[in-house]
Amino acid sequence: MCGIVGYVGKKEAVPILLQGLESLEYRGYDSSGLAYFDEAQKKIDCFKGAGPVSCLKSQLAGIHHSGCIGIAHTRWATHGAPTQENAHPHLDNKGYFAIVHNGIIENYKLLKQDLEKRGYQFKSQTDTETAVHLWHAKNEHADAIRESFRQAILHMEGQFAFVGMGLDEPDRLFVFRRSNPLLIGLGRGENFVASDATAFLPYTNRVIYLGDDELAEVFKDHVRIYNLKSGRLIHKKSVHIDWSQEQAQKGNAPHFMFKEIHEQPEVLKKTLKQRIKNTQIIWNELRPKDLDKLKQIERILAVSCGTAYHACLASKYMFDACTGIPVSVDVSSEFRYSEQQLTRKDMVLLVSQSGETADTLAALNEAKRQGVFTLAIVNVRGSSLAREADAVIYTHAGPEIGVASTKAYTAQLMVLALLAIYLGIIRNKISKKDASAFLAQARKLPKYCLQIIQKKSAAVKSYAESLKDKPNFIYLGRGINFPTALEGALKFKEITYTHAHGYAAGEMKHGPIALIDDQLVVICIAPQSKTYEKMMNNIEEISARKGIVFSIGTEDDQRLIAKSRFFVGIPRILEIFSPILTVIPLQLLAYYVAVAKGNEVDKPRNLAKSVTVE
Ligand code: AGP
Repeated sequence: MCGIVGYVGKKEAVPILLQGLESLEYRGYDSSGLAYFDEAQKKIDCFKGAGPVSCLKSQLAGIHHSGCIGIAHTRWATHGAPTQENAHPHLDNKGYFAIVHNGIIENYKLLKQDLEKRGYQFKSQTDTETAVHLWHAKNEHADAIRESFRQAILHMEGQFAFVGMGLDEPDRLFVFRRSNPLLIGLGRGENFVASDATAFLPYTNRVIYLGDDELAEVFKDHVRIYNLKSGRLIHKKSVHIDWSQEQAQKGNAPHFMFKEIHEQPEVLKKTLKQRIKNTQIIWNELRPKDLDKLKQIERILAVSCGTAYHACLASKYMFDACTGIPVSVDVSSEFRYSEQQLTRKDMVLLVSQSGETADTLAALNEAKRQGVFTLAIVNVRGSSLAREADAVIYTHAGPEIGVASTKAYTAQLMVLALLAIYLGIIRNKISKKDASAFLAQARKLPKYCLQIIQKKSAAVKSYAESLKDKPNFIYLGRGINFPTALEGALKFKEITYTHAHGYAAGEMKHGPIALIDDQLVVICIAPQSKTYEKMMNNIEEISARKGIVFSIGTEDDQRLIAKSRFFVGIPRILEIFSPILTVIPLQLLAYYVAVAKGNEVDKPRNLAKSVTVE
């Protein structure tokens, strides 16, 4: 996905656009650019290039710019390599229009052929450039730029968000969204457009969430929104978002990921505070009809991607332990193409930090096509998934900027565990007494999470420095900590660029054991649990083959300590909550190895924070 920023107001646009781009760099960072209306010369100036926003800032250093309206973009390449020609913004051949884009124009090749026949010259390999030339072509017969913008969009197929500006109407931005996030930030005498609120949080918390197929003209002191098809004006309410500026900034932390790992105790505390009143678990976002649905469902199909998928896998053990409801778990990209027939007694549970992941949105649409109740668990308010699912529960983890998800994951696990307990209670599978015991344990999690971070970080950091050059890692877990093994391995892969594989420990003898030698690090997640003895057998087999055992276990477990080359102890906790604690040392291990390798921890190569394209 890419990051889009637009500004129109009374201040210099360029510094605001650059600051916005820096906040959005986690969305894509292989090239960047901006364009603004130069008041003095009455023309659109454009600066762009390959590389991160810092390269763009260097390009602009020393250049005098005066303009109060502009657009900017940070790119995660889909069509065309990250080069200056392919960087956004794109202008038409005469410089009348400039546009930035997130998403994919599926029929761009046909449109491009037609435009080239009409004499338009293309400089890039992007689909985006087609949009700006089409806008110019449509403008020849339109009575207003907004109309030519609308006509151009009506001729494009695909999922996209655009922000553009026109030389002849330099007092407004032209905005459109379909299945790619775009918000309008409402300031005083100035307005903003961005892919997410972190780009304009320093200026305003008041936003308008554009809906799909809505087009807007954004002026410095007002906004006009239209329905794409009819062209008619529509009214949208603004909402207040509860994110603060400091939440979206690194502060004194060395990296966002470091900050977000350390925010987890507070996030867990906030989640418990919001969701547990006395012994009741409450869901303020759910309406009575949603709660009725939760009583009636006979199957849960959990669907998500990446880290959120691991949270869903862990939730299966929680639902099994608390509710007796059959649960299946699929990655979104498989679910959306599967032939499975759903029934009205099913619930499709979609989990996503960003709420913009293309495959998960497609899975949502498939569930809705089959008329099935959809419940989303999302971190970003106003995101597509939050707005399009039948019901939504928020994780309130605050903005998560680091590409490698940490606090959103433990927040998802917390919400999923509470949801499992809640369902157990309303379906009389859990006694009030058991529920109280569960909640008493849950209340310990913030303190235990803090304890691990405070007391174990130094040890993990030293372990990371001694292991950072090992060529291969395997993560093993059983039961509810099998997903933890997958998550730990994903964190490691994402930011250290070293191969790491998560496996069900019981599967080790069915193949992976062949990999064991004195260079292989095997991360064994072995807290006290019903599968502890089986994990100890795995550890014996690994040691017998000189594998390097790095175990996560219950603190003071002398037996496990004696069998481990490296050991991180965590407080004893009820099994359904243990993934919330066992993952912390794995997050820290990935972080410290990546730092020791000098990697870009917050913006790892090839990745983007939210995969909004398929
Ligand atoms: C997690 O560290 C990764 N960045 C990635 O797997 C992510 O979890 C996945 O893309 C899903 O994102 P979402 O939760 O925003 O849908």
